[in-house]
Amino acid sequence: MKRIGLMALLAAGMTAQAQTQRVNVIPAPVLLQEAAGQFTITSQTVISADPVFRDAAALLSEQSGIPLQGKGAQTGNIRILKEILRKQADSAAYRLIIDPQSVKIYASGRAGALHGIYTLLQIMGTQPNQRVLPAVAISDEPRFTYRGLHLDVSRHFFPLEFVYKYIDLMAMYKMNVFHWHITDGAGWRLEIKKYPALTQQAAWRTHANYMEWWKSPRHYLEEGNPNAYGGYYTQDEARKVVAYAARRGITVIPEIEMPGHSEEVLAVYPHLSCAGEPYKQSEFCLGNDSTFTFLEDVLREVMAIFPSKYIHIGGDEADKSAWKKCPKCQRRMQHEHLANEEALQSYAVKRTEKFLIANGRKLMGWDEILEGGLAPEATVMSWRGEKGGITAASEGHDVVMTPGGYCYFDSYQSDPSTEPLTIGGYLPLSKVYSYEPVPAELPADKAHHVLGAQANVWAEYMPATYQVEYMVFPRMLALSEVVWSQKDKRNWNDFKTRLQAHYRLLQRKQVNYYRPSVQLEPKTVIDTVRRLTIVSFETEQYQPVIRYTLNGTRPNATSALYTTPVEVPGTAQLTAAVFRDTMLMGRPVTVPVHYHKAIGKTVTYNTPWSGSYPAQKAATLVNGYRGSLTYGDGQWQGFLGKGVDVTIDLGTSQSLESLSIGFMQITGPGVYMPTEVKVQVADDPKAFENIPAITVANDVPPAHEKLIFKDFTFDLRGQKGRYIRVKAPVQKGFLFTDEIIVY
Ligand code: ACM
Repeated sequence: MKRIGLMALLAAGMTAQAQTQRVNVIPAPVLLQEAAGQFTITSQTVISADPVFRDAAALLSEQSGIPLQGKGAQTGNIRILKEILRKQADSAAYRLIIDPQSVKIYASGRAGALHGIYTLLQIMGTQPNQRVLPAVAISDEPRFTYRGLHLDVSRHFFPLEFVYKYIDLMAMYKMNVFHWHITDGAGWRLEIKKYPALTQQAAWRTHANYMEWWKSPRHYLEEGNPNAYGGYYTQDEARKVVAYAARRGITVIPEIEMPGHSEEVLAVYPHLSCAGEPYKQSEFCLGNDSTFTFLEDVLREVMAIFPSKYIHIGGDEADKSAWKKCPKCQRRMQHEHLANEEALQSYAVKRTEKFLIANGRKLMGWDEILEGGLAPEATVMSWRGEKGGITAASEGHDVVMTPGGYCYFDSYQSDPSTEPLTIGGYLPLSKVYSYEPVPAELPADKAHHVLGAQANVWAEYMPATYQVEYMVFPRMLALSEVVWSQKDKRNWNDFKTRLQAHYRLLQRKQVNYYRPSVQLEPKTVIDTVRRLTIVSFETEQYQPVIRYTLNGTRPNATSALYTTPVEVPGTAQLTAAVFRDTMLMGRPVTVPVHYHKAIGKTVTYNTPWSGSYPAQKAATLVNGYRGSLTYGDGQWQGFLGKGVDVTIDLGTSQSLESLSIGFMQITGPGVYMPTEVKVQVADDPKAFENIPAITVANDVPPAHEKLIFKDFTFDLRGQKGRYIRVKAPVQKGFLFTDEIIVY
């Protein structure tokens, strides 16, 4: 016991040392060279700056507590210097040199100076002693110009102080676009002087919790009503947010939703809907000129607050059914020769784009703005996968990639059974990190249309700021590297190592980040040459202590230590867990290992598998790999029609002990258990016609909707033969099976 405790201590000590010896910058810079020595910040340390960087230097002074020298003085030991870089586009580039005597930041433009400052602040924030900085030389510039993070303040309203904190954290990781989702059905959040009801009523609703409101009749209340929940930002406050962000190198893009997601507007200005009454529709009436007058009035005030080149007009998820029945919409379609309601939506987007362009701005919208034809100069935010982005970029439009599978930070980041409720999905940190914003399908000459990527933070399930922080961090750090770092600098293991130091920074900034999971994720490889199963483990923990047993018992502090992938001959119940000293963390994971008799043998399909779900074709059922939670994983083979009817050839006649075959049922997509499973053993396949089968009936009712797995197991003791025939008739829909395990 003693020896183990010591080993764990040693491991922990090594971890701490590994972290303090390195400069850990996220996102990874283009070049970083560590050097000997360190710069120590003392009471004598002062900042000076070239006059053009005076304000950036003031920001560094405010954030670090280090005084800024008076105007004109250029003798600080932390200096921000102007240099002419290779080309104008390098205004975002910088160099940072820390040596024992001085800290110097070189940049040609303000963005570069800020990037250098934030790298310096990051080095301070990640060091155990924030005043002792390791010597280093960094040369850096971004890969993408658009590095976005979004925040939905409609579903739940977040106070200004939090918006400032959010922007500060974005800046720390060189994210440069704050997409402020400021209007939606759950509440309008910006003062519009010409339309006061938007903030007197449309900003307030009957329930504080969005999901409770969603399940209710979804009504709004007057501000001041004791039961009203909501809020809004005044124009002055929004201007302050814009200035606060701009000072940190961040552009704020406001989103004003149209034509859908607008229940709150239509509740207070019902004449702008097809029905003409509140609480009937979410979409503006597009046959009504008042709609465009309203939108243009609002956008005029919005443009006066937000100087961004882009104005986001939403455009997503509009229900077109009211337009089909609305005489005004139909008249518009006739008059404008619009073939259908998609074209009517496109008309509205194009008309809005014309207005924005006339005011010197550009339109951005969700990928639904492709429906019915894209507005001539629109920029598309691709959220329903990458397809919209690929189409728009191929047509020569700029795009921002924000596909749900990689960029929706409202999805789970760990096992849902252990996490606070979210909208669904599964997006662990490693998957965010794996994202590549330029789709492989996009022709190379169109790649420059991908401006970058963005994560979206929809707040349906985030009633409080601490939950927003939990969902965004550390995933935003992974995204920052996706959008900033050069492709060849991205390395998951290296990121994970650097990340360890950033937890310290997030703690210092009092961020309620998601703590790295202690859950082990097993990975199995079958070695058919050596007839072994090789099991390795991944976890979000850094250099974890993992212990395991091979007999299914719960591992304890004296169980075998996992150091390299475990090679298991034959059968085992490999059970492993993460330990901190002698304490088992989280839940152990059990990997059933079966190097069974049928692995790698020949399977004849008496009926074919479904062309849509071939999995690993004829190898699938005897390759040693079990399927995972989803039938689309390439290990579950699908069957229709007559179901499963296969014959396994073991090569030689053998005495058998058992057989089991796994199936899944999930009725939503039409996946059911077989009616029964029949097994026969023979030395001659012709004999199957004449010998009886052993049958195991299904006992999972077809009404069982939720995902369930079942292994149909057969006792074959006393049976001998070379061939095994397995039949499993379809009950209804699809059959999915992953492995036939023979002993
Ligand atoms: C969206 O997630 N509806 C853009």
